[in-house]
Amino acid sequence: MHIYTRNLGLVSSLTILGINTGAARDQTTNPLISRLLDLSEMLAAGTKQIHEKAENTQFVKDFLRGRIRKELFKLGAVALYYTYTALEEEIERNKDHPHFAPLYFPAELHRHEALARDLEYFYGPEWKSHASCSKATQQYVDRIHQVGQEDPVLLVAHAYTRYMGDLSGGQVLKKVAQRALKLPPTGEGLEFYQFDAIHSAKAFKQLYRSRMNELEVDMETKKRLVDEAVKAFLFNIEVFEELEEIGKTIQEDVLDAGMPVHGAMGGDISKCPYYNAKMAASGGTAYVRQLAMAALRHPTGQVLFATWFAALAGLVAWYLM
Ligand code: HEM
Repeated sequence: MHIYTRNLGLVSSLTILGINTGAARDQTTNPLISRLLDLSEMLAAGTKQIHEKAENTQFVKDFLRGRIRKELFKLGAVALYYTYTALEEEIERNKDHPHFAPLYFPAELHRHEALARDLEYFYGPEWKSHASCSKATQQYVDRIHQVGQEDPVLLVAHAYTRYMGDLSGGQVLKKVAQRALKLPPTGEGLEFYQFDAIHSAKAFKQLYRSRMNELEVDMETKKRLVDEAVKAFLFNIEVFEELEEIGKTIQEDVLDAGMPVHGAMGGDISKCPYYNAKMAASGGTAYVRQLAMAALRHPTGQVLFATWFAALAGLVAWYLM
């Protein structure tokens, strides 16, 4: 939010000073103003606050910690499938529209086929009969169709919100999911996160930003695009919150699957929250076993164990005599 409010503040200050911020003149005479008024800058700044909100939803926080229920992950993929199917249908419809054409990168970005393959991996060839569009996803999908059909320039905001986000955090999320759900290293079930036609996400994002900046849209439209991108984030948050609610009704099948491998990490295992949660859930027997193993790895523990074992053997021998 900071940069965006700064931008809008700048816009009004400039207007007060009699500088016409809407005019192309400003954008060519002052490089600083030109940059701050770039659509890509306005979108990044204008969605900063809502981005933080999205990052802080319980579902996303749990995901990042590797606390992923497989059933919920699958439902998330279903939601993404419907979202991208709608988004890419509208993108195809508007691919020649002057306000979208420069952002048309089907080979590099489009995700709905990758999601279909992920769903086939999770649910089998009959996956379509398992999939249904949830309420929150349907509202998101309806908005995408409305925009694509009635106000295509706003499609830019929806494409920006999803594709730039996927290119930004995708690789981290892929690794977390792969480890937590024990998915094959060959990438099955996670094709959504894999952009084969993009060699450098950073370079591609720069290209996408420069294409957004070259769109011939006035300041009013840029502001409408920022508002629409905020809406797009809100739709995503609604979907996360819905998944979180569904999660409360699902058995915690793989809740601890993302537990870090402490042997490789070193440090004090008892301080790990995943470890403690796992021990509490296992009813304590695993905890006792783990304590015994830990004690045996320690020299003092080995001496104590040997003493205790010798005493027990003596007791058994005395009883048998
Ligand atoms: C899992 C939590 C998330 C994390 C850790 C995260 C992280 C990041 C990071 C580090 C960037 C900056 C990348 C760069 O500078 O190039 C970024 C950018 C972005 N993220 Fe996220 N993100 C998360 C969730 C989301 C969600 C849920 C959305 C929307 C659905 C989203 C949409 C975006 C967008 C559109 C950008 C591009 C910003 C710009 O440069 O204009 N992110 N994210």
